[in-house]
Amino acid sequence: MATAIDQLRVDLLSQVAAAASSAALEEVRVSALGRKGAITEQMKTLGQLPPDERRAAGQAFNALKDEVAAALEARKAGLESAELEARLAQERIDVTLPARPQPDGRLHPLMQTWDELVAIFGEMGFVIAEGPDIEDDWHNFTALNIPEEHPARQEMDTFYLQEHDGHRPVLRTHTSPVQIRTMLTQKPPIRIIVPGRTFRSDHDATHSPMFHQVEGLVIDESTHMGHLKGTLIEFCRAFFGIDDLPVRFRNSHFPFTEPSAEVDIGCSRKGGGLTIGAGDDWLEILGSGMVHPKVLEYCGIDSTKYQGWAFGMGIERIAMLKYGIPDLRTMYDSDLRWLRHYGFMPLDVPSMLGGLAR
Ligand code: PHE
Repeated sequence: MATAIDQLRVDLLSQVAAAASSAALEEVRVSALGRKGAITEQMKTLGQLPPDERRAAGQAFNALKDEVAAALEARKAGLESAELEARLAQERIDVTLPARPQPDGRLHPLMQTWDELVAIFGEMGFVIAEGPDIEDDWHNFTALNIPEEHPARQEMDTFYLQEHDGHRPVLRTHTSPVQIRTMLTQKPPIRIIVPGRTFRSDHDATHSPMFHQVEGLVIDESTHMGHLKGTLIEFCRAFFGIDDLPVRFRNSHFPFTEPSAEVDIGCSRKGGGLTIGAGDDWLEILGSGMVHPKVLEYCGIDSTKYQGWAFGMGIERIAMLKYGIPDLRTMYDSDLRWLRHYGFMPLDVPSMLGGLAR
């Protein structure tokens, strides 16, 4: 009997050692210790032994059971940790890989253009300022040297709200009131850009009642028209990505700037299309000028000590020109096919270092 038990012991322990996976080990366990397992079957034969041998054989079987159970346990722990290691190695992810954006998500070309403006002027040292969409007429008109009878106040152009505390709030018709708000709350030197939403009672292929502008304002003791010109030439060339883009300053008028200049860029309209760059024609893209002394005085800034310049342009307009969008109204149709065509991948954030969209 003793040799039979020894033989069984050697067999079972070598099977345990040879099991290559948790599943194979479980089969070994069932075949050794299960109800029909080898040890169980052998123990059934104990009854046939003479009583004096039965006791010793019973103890030997119990010891074998314990030894095999312990060997199974140890092998199981070893296999499980090896299997975990293998899984961890296989399922490893590289968290430094760039994320893959959903192929359907797009950034609206208007927001792309907004980000590009911020990248260009941010690089030049401008900071962003904001103001409310609902203005009072003092900030939107009066303080900008637009008197009561000025045509810009006509109801045709402006969305007025119901009278409130003796004045009529307006949906701001330009971002220029933020010039006023900034000069009232900050001391020069001031160097801001103001991207934001604006409203006018206009609706056709190039005008929408709600649109966007970006305003710029620089005030200090010595800045002059040369800085205005240099900054805007640099901006136009960076934004359109054309190093030798012709830029022209044309005499103009705004109540809040003196002198005022409209800025045109070179283009060609040959063959019915529009190509931006050196050509035989000009395209107006923004308004600018030296801040009118009256505006500085309205804001409590001494116009004999400080001077400055400002500019403003429509974001839709420059987006349409850069990205070849023929009708402004399509920008607000929320048509996903349009957005897939004109939109940008959200993670391609424009920067002067990484590049603007072309
Ligand atoms: N506010 C002007 C407009 O809406 C643009 C402008 C801003 C012109 C600043 C000159 C200086 O048309």
